[in-house]
Amino acid sequence: MKRHPCRYPLFLLLAALLLFSGTPAQAGGPGGLKKLVILGGVDPRDLPEPDSIEARLLATYCSQCHNLPNPKMYSRAEWPERFARMMHHADAMGKMPGFKAPTDDEKGRISAYLQKYGMQSIAADDPSLRDPDAFEFVWFCSSCHNLPDPAQHTPEEWDALLDRMVEHRRAYARPEMSLKERMSILKFLGKGKK
Ligand code: HEC
Ligand code: HEC
Repeated sequence: MKRHPCRYPLFLLLAALLLFSGTPAQAGGPGGLKKLVILGGVDPRDLPEPDSIEARLLATYCSQCHNLPNPKMYSRAEWPERFARMMHHADAMGKMPGFKAPTDDEKGRISAYLQKYGMQSIAADDPSLRDPDAFEFVWFCSSCHNLPDPAQHTPEEWDALLDRMVEHRRAYARPEMSLKERMSILKFLGKGKK
């Protein structure tokens, strides 16, 4: 079949438009700053203890450059390093008009909140991870965040949560999970909370 000569440039134009045009929600940063989109964004009302000072601080400061991140997207062990990186970004961008940088006291509160509500991970040297049954779990669940502790959810909760993780994996263009792999992961996770 002969290729239509216009198709390629048109595709490039569309791709460029998609890349450079934000939705209104992305474009409305302080002082006209353009916002990034990160995976695992959350609505401020869905944060744990949404009315606490800490949740409000997170919602205010952490959504200035991108959508509001979900505290559960990283384990407690992973947050400190990321928090430090974000404060590094804030130092770099803090002089922009309309941008608000947290005070030291506020930084402490946000960091403590991320520690409190970050995901509970399983220790990397937990003996259960050496079991051949853990293979699919480790393969599919360790690429975005630390491996979660099976004890924090019931089998029903894990089943529902896996649907969300499958969506996140798609957004990251990771290989699809087969039914067999899913069953194996659920079996491993089911050894946690009864
Ligand atoms: C001054 C701008 C700025 C502020 C404020 C900011 N971030 Fe970010 N954030 C970035 C940039 C730039 C990236 C992409 C580069 C990177 O990952 O370091 C990013 C990426 C992220 C990511 C996705 C990357 C990853 O490691 O998964 C998360 C999660 C995140 N930020 C969390 C937060 C949290 C939590 C806060 C509030 C404490 C925050 N950010 C405040 C600029 C900011
Ligand atoms: C492509 C990236 C990605 C992969 C791979 C991934 N996750 Fe997640 N995970 C996320 C993001 C983003 C969040 C925060 C948003 C949410 O909860 O949906 C999260 C949050 C979580 C949480 C905390 C949420 C809660 O409500 O307790 C658990 C537990 C979790 N993931 C388990 C898993 C398991 C099990 C797997 C393997 C099947 C997995 N994740 C694979 C991206 C990923």
